[in-house]
Amino acid sequence: MPDQKINILAIESSCDDTAAAVLCNGKILSNIVATQEVHKQYGGVVPELASRAHQQNIVPVIHQALAKANIDKKDVSAIAFTRGPGLMGSLLVGTSFAKSLSMGLNIPLIEVNHMQAHILAHFIEEDGFDKPQFPFLAMTISGGHTQIVMVTDYFEMKVIGETIDDAVGEAFDKSAKILGLPYPGGPLIDNYAREGNPKTFKFPKPKVDGLNFSFSGFKTAVLYFVQRETRNDPDFVEKNLKDICASIQYTIIGILMDKLKKAVKETGINRVAIGGGVSANSGIRQALKDAEKRWGWTCHIPKFEYTTDNAAMIGIVGYHKYLKKDFADFSVTAQSRYKF
Ligand code: KG4
Ligand code: ZN
Repeated sequence: MPDQKINILAIESSCDDTAAAVLCNGKILSNIVATQEVHKQYGGVVPELASRAHQQNIVPVIHQALAKANIDKKDVSAIAFTRGPGLMGSLLVGTSFAKSLSMGLNIPLIEVNHMQAHILAHFIEEDGFDKPQFPFLAMTISGGHTQIVMVTDYFEMKVIGETIDDAVGEAFDKSAKILGLPYPGGPLIDNYAREGNPKTFKFPKPKVDGLNFSFSGFKTAVLYFVQRETRNDPDFVEKNLKDICASIQYTIIGILMDKLKKAVKETGINRVAIGGGVSANSGIRQALKDAEKRWGWTCHIPKFEYTTDNAAMIGIVGYHKYLKKDFADFSVTAQSRYKF
């Protein structure tokens, strides 16, 4: 660890959360998230509204992050921001703001890949949390992505499996919508599932080659199931909501765990970390705890505040890039599709 204090101000604006954080030498001083409520009434994120809300939120969120960290602008060492992947209009707000701030303060600018950040969130300095040892497998599960990544070093990552259609978060959210639940439905399914019987209803698992995933057929299966059952009994969903949610969650977690087991077997690496919004799910968290006991895996489960989108994870990537002096220049642009 360096002698000097390296303060990173991080900005995240890839989807519908406007977030800013300040980290000092990899430790969080503040982590502020403004979640945009405006999308709820539309049942999903409306890109145009998201970018407008980012413009409204970004200045107060950054002010709050600096104030909570008790750091003056002049003590910030570098600005880190999410370059992509994400919604273009949303990314442009954070990118432009980060560039201007870095220029105004005359400090380095650091661009961050959002998906790498979900993985490197495990390296935030945190009491009571062990950091993963390289190499390890990371499963990033969110509303936009579903990937298994082999991580051999901080910035040496290889995607070894990913979804060929919908992301797992979409499978949760779309299933929830079919059940008449508001957006985002993932956490609600999780809550109802806690009191339901996961073996009540059976949904098919997709057959996909290798370590890839598919969730579009699953969503259709849920739709047909609900249509069929409500034809016989219009109150079917209401009467069976907990069991339906438990059965949906059980199947989705089964799909994720099947591929993870295959990845562990094929790579011989049994250190596993999860990240992204769906890693907040109680089913996947329990499945990994069981895998530790049953198969001797070492599993890294993030704290709840680092599962869904946040700027602390952008800050930890920023810190490690700062140590390498891996800075961006002012011609850097937002990238809605940004592979690593
Ligand atoms: O990482 P994230 O905040 O944003 C993206 O980058 O997509 O992930 C959001 C996704 C949503 O689909 C949301 O329903 C899902 O994560 N999610 C959950 C849970 N908490 C959030 N899904 C299942 N169970 C949860 N507890
Ligand atoms: Zn995310």
